[in-house]
Amino acid sequence: MPRAIVGYDRVRHVLDAEGESSYGDAVADKTGPAGLQARAVRFGYLDGTDVLHDVAFDVEPGRTVAVVGPTGSGKSTLVSLLVRLVDPASGAVLLDGVDVRDFRHGGVAASAALVPQQAFLFDDTVRDNITLGLDVSDDEVRAALATAQATEFVDRLPLGLDTQVGERGTSLSGGQRQRIALARALVRRPRLLVMDDATSAVDPRVEAAILAGLRDGGGGPSTVVVVAYRKATIALADEVVFIEDGRVTARGPHADLVTTSAGYRRLVDAYERAARDREQAEAVRAAEAADAARTGNAADADDADDADEEVPA
Ligand SMILES: Nc1ncnc2c1ncn2[C@@H]1O[C@H](COP(=O)(O)OP(=O)(O)OP(=O)(O)O)[C@@H](O)[C@H]1O
Ligand SMILES: [Mg+2]
Repeated sequence: MPRAIVGYDRVRHVLDAEGESSYGDAVADKTGPAGLQARAVRFGYLDGTDVLHDVAFDVEPGRTVAVVGPTGSGKSTLVSLLVRLVDPASGAVLLDGVDVRDFRHGGVAASAALVPQQAFLFDDTVRDNITLGLDVSDDEVRAALATAQATEFVDRLPLGLDTQVGERGTSLSGGQRQRIALARALVRRPRLLVMDDATSAVDPRVEAAILAGLRDGGGGPSTVVVVAYRKATIALADEVVFIEDGRVTARGPHADLVTTSAGYRRLVDAYERAARDREQAEAVRAAEAADAARTGNAADADDADDADEEVPA
């Protein structure tokens, strides 16, 4: 009882919290892909040092922009500002020309969806993890799953959409969890889709299929901002924003940046090498599993398909 009371008290504090964000009265009633601008955005966490300095870029409606940069350079911080999880210390983020702080409560969420770097799944069914209480039909859920390249594995689950995924989705692989999280964003038909390294654990071929589907308008016409590591993904974007140490140090199409920015070229080459090493390791593992299957050890063979378990270091 005492433990339950303490727990209840904590939950109540969260539920009763008013939050510190203030809202305006702009209504998010536009349709079609959203336009996005970051203007002189500066941001620091509570410890005081600035993580983003004077970050500025525009994304035209319907375009796909890749955000690329070394670890710790501020990519996740930047994308959390774009969907107003946090506000800049100075500068502004504009959605369709409107400062995101001027929208009504819920306005930004109605237009923009973030697929975070760490997908969080609830101990609930696949369906409820995708809808999160939004009133959508199973057809819409299935369309989102199709764009997220998740139809096949969801259909193979014992109860399909009604399968319980377990605490934090432990019954699924990393890549499967990421695809459920993507479907959760897509079912909301965002006009701005922001993916923070959201397909890192997905097989590269599947990732390419997801991006191709997004480009063709699966999940509705959308502007896409994607934090990306794979060259193939980056090359699919119309433009790259290269961030180092919280500053945009280069911008432009991938093909241009590899010639104009030495830092960018070094980073992308390093990603490429890491990906090749991983693929080789995976091929060895698959061969071993196939061997194991031939000698009658079926449990290992099952793992061979699940290349998407792999999470890059
Ligand atoms: N909640 C936080 N509180 C304090 N500092 C933070 C917080 N989140 C991130 N940082 C710091 O801000 C900087 C940028 O972090 P961020 O997560 O945005 O980088 P990133 O580019 O997304 O890195 P990665 O490629 O590893 O995901 C880092 O120095 C990090 O330590
Ligand atoms: Mg990050």
